[in-house]
Amino acid sequence: MITFEGSEGSGKSTHAARLEARLREAGVPVLLVREPGSTELGQYLREWLKREKTTVPLAELFLFEAARAQLVQDVIRPALKSGKVVVADRFTDSTLAYQGFGRGLDIGLIRRLNDAATAGLVPDVTILLDVPVVAGLERAANRSDDAGSRKFEDLPVEFHEKVAAGFRALAAKERKRWLVVDSTRDQDAV
Ligand code: TMP
Repeated sequence: MITFEGSEGSGKSTHAARLEARLREAGVPVLLVREPGSTELGQYLREWLKREKTTVPLAELFLFEAARAQLVQDVIRPALKSGKVVVADRFTDSTLAYQGFGRGLDIGLIRRLNDAATAGLVPDVTILLDVPVVAGLERAANRSDDAGSRKFEDLPVEFHEKVAAGFRALAAKERKRWLVVDSTRDQDAV
């Protein structure tokens, strides 16, 4: 399993899709998923996040973990079992970065919930697409698809700085799993 992580507008969706296409061309069986999304519950959460502004942080945490439990058991595990490489646009590390470093919820609690929701599934490789926060937010604001959610994009820059610092701290702590890529370069270079 390969996961893409990063703050808003870092190019995760683009590069996850490009990796999927490249693996497919090479004849590697592959499945692309995104969080939240890729199940009915995940899609519901994505819609919920777009319009709901008042969810308290702890409820937000449980919602992401609930959608993750559904995605792992229903979609990711069966795919891995059938020999597919799973490419994910966000996964457990997003919850550590956003709800932990960003919202300030207890990191130990989030690790336990991540572990429960995934039944111990840890990505083989995690790619952090690193962009300056302000540039990323501008990129996110200019796109017209349904990616992202205004809920998070509308939070102050300081929140996103904490999230970005969180991702870098997570990557620095577990160098064997993480690959940090400068995503300010053009798409092909990245
Ligand atoms: P995205 O499609 O742009 O990645 O939008 C998903 C939003 O949800 C993004 O703002 C990050 C946020 N998010 C969390 O806060 N925690 C999580 O665990 C996940 C998966 C996403």
